[in-house]
Amino acid sequence: MSSNHEDHLILCAAVMHSVGMHLGAWMASDGDATDYVSPSLYLDVAAAAEEAKLHAVFFADALTNSQTGTTRPCSALDPVMILGLMVAGTKRLGLVATATTTYESPYLLARRFGSLDHLSKGRAAWNVVTSTDEASALQFGGGHLPPHADRYAVADEFLEVAFELWGSWEEDAMVGDKRNKLFARADRVHPINHKGQYFDVTGPLPFPRSPQGRPVIFQAGASEPGKAFAAKYADVIFTSQHLLEGAIEFRSEMRKRASAAGHEVKVLPGMSVHLGGTEEEAWRRRRELDEAIGVEPEIEKLALRTGVPTEALELDKKFPYDLLPPDEEFEASVGYRRSLINLARKEDLTVRQLIVRYGGGQQLVVGTPEQVADLMIEWRDAGAVDGFNLMVDMLPSGLHDIRDMLIPVLQERGIFHEDYEHPTLRENLGLRPVGPVPGHATI
Ligand SMILES: Cc1cc2nc3c(=O)[nH]c(=O)nc-3n(C[C@H](O)[C@H](O)[C@H](O)COP(=O)(O)O)c2cc1C
Repeated sequence: MSSNHEDHLILCAAVMHSVGMHLGAWMASDGDATDYVSPSLYLDVAAAAEEAKLHAVFFADALTNSQTGTTRPCSALDPVMILGLMVAGTKRLGLVATATTTYESPYLLARRFGSLDHLSKGRAAWNVVTSTDEASALQFGGGHLPPHADRYAVADEFLEVAFELWGSWEEDAMVGDKRNKLFARADRVHPINHKGQYFDVTGPLPFPRSPQGRPVIFQAGASEPGKAFAAKYADVIFTSQHLLEGAIEFRSEMRKRASAAGHEVKVLPGMSVHLGGTEEEAWRRRRELDEAIGVEPEIEKLALRTGVPTEALELDKKFPYDLLPPDEEFEASVGYRRSLINLARKEDLTVRQLIVRYGGGQQLVVGTPEQVADLMIEWRDAGAVDGFNLMVDMLPSGLHDIRDMLIPVLQERGIFHEDYEHPTLRENLGLRPVGPVPGHATI
């Protein structure tokens, strides 16, 4: 067994749609129908993820149930609240929540994630998204989803404000001298006086700098503005990559662009995993999930992911590439779409085959822990990844399988750490301490 740090992968567990990545997860799981709004499920997830020594647990967010309707649960609860609950049951697990720059307030959000970083003693991270659906826009008075370019322009200024706020207390501002009634030094706590195109924020934040300096920034947009944004601000990039060549190219491009912007990034492609003691067992698990949901919702999801109308997606015909709307007219994720269309073309798939093969949006792997480990090693050795975002198929059993079946094999192969080495997420990810605010000389 090797234990060279350079060989170790970063692994996160992704919690999608509250109950698992597969659309059939809610129907197929054994738990109570309302597990997804009960603390017990999330405390189980937190404990299992930390027992597995995963670097972090990641919560996606949907804001509305417009895509799932009333047939099954969506990412219903506020992810930061769930992570606040998880703080109490864990000591080292990183806690990543999704939040949107399109509808949030920079001051409130900087305060919320700063609070999580304090309460978790340096384990908080924010997955920055710009939102892609019209239904969310209806909840905030504006009525319409702003255009793609505008959303990223807002996101850029939003992050600038948040970074300034997280730096508004200098590291030595806190004194804590009760006898002399001196809590903090006024000359070390600075208003930010930000006046910009979208936000006017005076600051400072109401509490001292948090343990990581600022929360770790995750990002997953893969359009051109999305990549420019990631190169400037992200510490970790989630990406949908079904093919090895695409993953190598993407990581190489993003490392270069981030390095030109003066920092480093870790690139974690998603991996939708179904595990079994044998390949047949793993496929049986997959088939049970498929049967639980049926094919109609999968067609609807593929239509949303590609912009092709559902009626044009005929199961036993090839994917209708000529009906793809151009990138400029497509509001959902360009990156997700590019990756799955490349897969369909390369493997010449029918719609039915593509529905299985694209893993709901992330590379699909169905097999034994040894097979998963072989694939991870191949991708790592090819320079395609710093680790993986493991999309848990169904909670909590999929995460238990990762902990009990996959992790021991990865440790045995010397590609995953035996334990956390540091108190903070930033350190456990192998990232340098925080630098200055992008575009500013110092914080
Ligand atoms: C692993 C992963 C998880 C994501 N989770 C969310 C999410 O929870 N909420 C959301 O609005 N978008 C989510 N996205 C979408 C992206 O963050 C991004 O907003 C989208 O790809 C559009 O950006 P783009 O046009 O730059 O690609 C996710 C993407 C990936 C790859």
